[in-house]
Amino acid sequence: MVVLSQSQASIVLQTKNTHLVLTVGNNHRLYQSYLGARLTSPGDLEKLSGGREVYLTGGMENQFEPAIRMVHADGNPSLELEYASHTTEQKENVSYINIILKDPVYPVKVQLQYRGYFNEDVITCNATIQHHEKKPVRLTQYASSLLHFNAGTYWLTQFHGDWAREANMVDEQLTNGIKNIESKLGTRTNFYQTPAFFLSLDKPATETSGELIAGTLGWTGNFQFTFEIDQRNQLRLRSGINPFASDYTLNPGELFTTPEFIFTYSNQGKGQASRNLHRWARNYAVLDGKSPRLTLLNNWEATYFNFNETKLIELFDGAKQLGVDLFLLDDGWFGNTFPRDSDKAGLGDWQENKSKLPNGIGRLVAEATKRGIKFGIWLEPEMVNPKSDLYQQHPDWILRLPNRAVHLARNQLVLDLTNPKVQDFVFSIVDGLLTKNLGVAFIKWDCNRSMTNAYSAYLKEKQSHLFIEYTRCLYKVLDRIRARYPHLPIMLCSGGGGRTDYGALKYFTEFWPSDNTDGLERIFIQWGYSYFFPANTMAAHITSMGKGQSLKFRTDVAMAGKLGYDIRVNEFTPQELQFSQEAVTTYKRINDVIWQGDLYRIISPYEENRAVTMYVNDKKSKAILFNYILNVRRKDIFTRVQLQGLDAQKKYRFKEINLFPGTKANNPDNDKVFTGDYLMTVGLNLTPGKVLSLTSNVYEITEE
Ligand code: DGJ
Repeated sequence: MVVLSQSQASIVLQTKNTHLVLTVGNNHRLYQSYLGARLTSPGDLEKLSGGREVYLTGGMENQFEPAIRMVHADGNPSLELEYASHTTEQKENVSYINIILKDPVYPVKVQLQYRGYFNEDVITCNATIQHHEKKPVRLTQYASSLLHFNAGTYWLTQFHGDWAREANMVDEQLTNGIKNIESKLGTRTNFYQTPAFFLSLDKPATETSGELIAGTLGWTGNFQFTFEIDQRNQLRLRSGINPFASDYTLNPGELFTTPEFIFTYSNQGKGQASRNLHRWARNYAVLDGKSPRLTLLNNWEATYFNFNETKLIELFDGAKQLGVDLFLLDDGWFGNTFPRDSDKAGLGDWQENKSKLPNGIGRLVAEATKRGIKFGIWLEPEMVNPKSDLYQQHPDWILRLPNRAVHLARNQLVLDLTNPKVQDFVFSIVDGLLTKNLGVAFIKWDCNRSMTNAYSAYLKEKQSHLFIEYTRCLYKVLDRIRARYPHLPIMLCSGGGGRTDYGALKYFTEFWPSDNTDGLERIFIQWGYSYFFPANTMAAHITSMGKGQSLKFRTDVAMAGKLGYDIRVNEFTPQELQFSQEAVTTYKRINDVIWQGDLYRIISPYEENRAVTMYVNDKKSKAILFNYILNVRRKDIFTRVQLQGLDAQKKYRFKEINLFPGTKANNPDNDKVFTGDYLMTVGLNLTPGKVLSLTSNVYEITEE
């Protein structure tokens, strides 16, 4: 443990290209003296001092948004935090700094925890709050972090949406005052706002230029990012759990640990920031981020609730024909008193529906195994339909106001996960399913509504803990599941992209970005998520959605993520089947580059009526390029495309793959060899000849 004297005041967190420098002032308070590009000249770090207070408190002289606000047991609403000590530790690629701050008057301690991921240039920070007053204190603000910036102008990029139109990107210049990006939705918390942003300094950052930070919060619940520009044009960025309706009563000795704010600094634009986050995610944040994923055929869009055992087994044949790894049975397989034949009934009764599945899941697993494919299943274990046995047996297990009518969404209600009995129930559903049916190899975990009229019978007078406790308890259940099934692939779904955060991805191998699987729409949705999440986490299925779009176009779009199908394979023409079989084989050959490679977003669909992206492997020996033409207009002129991320010195063969049977590459540069320098400097014409709307190409670029 280090205790700094006032004259040698410097706590330095360093990654490959970033420095965060904190210093202690003469008043014992902790200041952010520097955050930005790594300083390389000797002596420069020591010159840093002053700055803005790191974890600003409320109730004293600070007049802006505080990181923490506490009302003490005696009613005093002030807090002062002075530096007490800190520890630093380096374990291989990760450095850990823990700083203890204490109030000189009240027995309150805050520990700030920083982690620096050197190679990935990612920093995470959070806080642990504790006190030893005689009675509980009330926390009304409890940020994960507060960062300070001092630039001429500030530019925010945020991502918002709704069902089937997730992750729309919007850029704006921030003006004086406060801008919040936040959620108050509880479950399905990212329904309207994705918990991630870019903050560009001085000018809007592009893919390849500009200074910015990319930030996101590892919390599957209400979140809040506050951007506040003060009268001196300085910006504070506060991130954490949204304190809305969530005053927290903290008992003496109890620890309140905030989720991690995750950020990366880049002075080379958004592309570099994304690549940093992707690498960090795969190495540290996503469950089994470096391991392969399963390709699959899902039945949701092919059947909705209308299926039986025979129909499903026929679909297995489709999965086998395609050559995918797994068949995923979606919603509708359960409920007997209240059969799940629509979204109106059955949720909560997780027993196989006897008329649809007379021989249970066991038979399905056996039939899938016979065909050499794995079997996965859909669950929505946090929810209940009023028309269910569960609802009737355990009315007290449900979040609902005691004296008001229930408010249904998708005809369902949220279970009260803060109640340990409900946690046991949810765990037992998953555990029971997996122990009874040993072959179940995949789960899709859905969550189709947010919280309204929320009230927990279990929490009694602590209703303001509900939003926070719910998320903590969700993690508790997931911890139990992961302790027993550490590597079972589970897709996180929330009526599309209603849950997309790194707090959850610790437990999940992938997420479902949207119920909108129209290829054109997916280009934008996947584009939005690609800023923060690597391709191996983004499930992308080929379905029959997408007016006027060929199967080839829809397949090329899905290939840029974690490819799957949700379609009636038996309705394919022989050519479509052949194409899809070849596509799955091709995807299995190249998916390592897509899942583990560096992503370069080269031409944005927000700027042109086309989109071009590239994935490049670590050795820069292989790249996959996707070229999508949107709805072209006569005015559109598509210029040459300079590739990125290759080795200028290497020679590469440029070859179109994933062609539809009977078609040939029409690019005169196809199958030719170029230097990396040529490809990146002169570039290629990716739109030779007549440009047709909703067409696409996939190119494999291989070192000779
Ligand atoms: C919403 C999901 O996003 C869909 O993929 C599907 O699983 C349905 N729920 C099933 O109810």
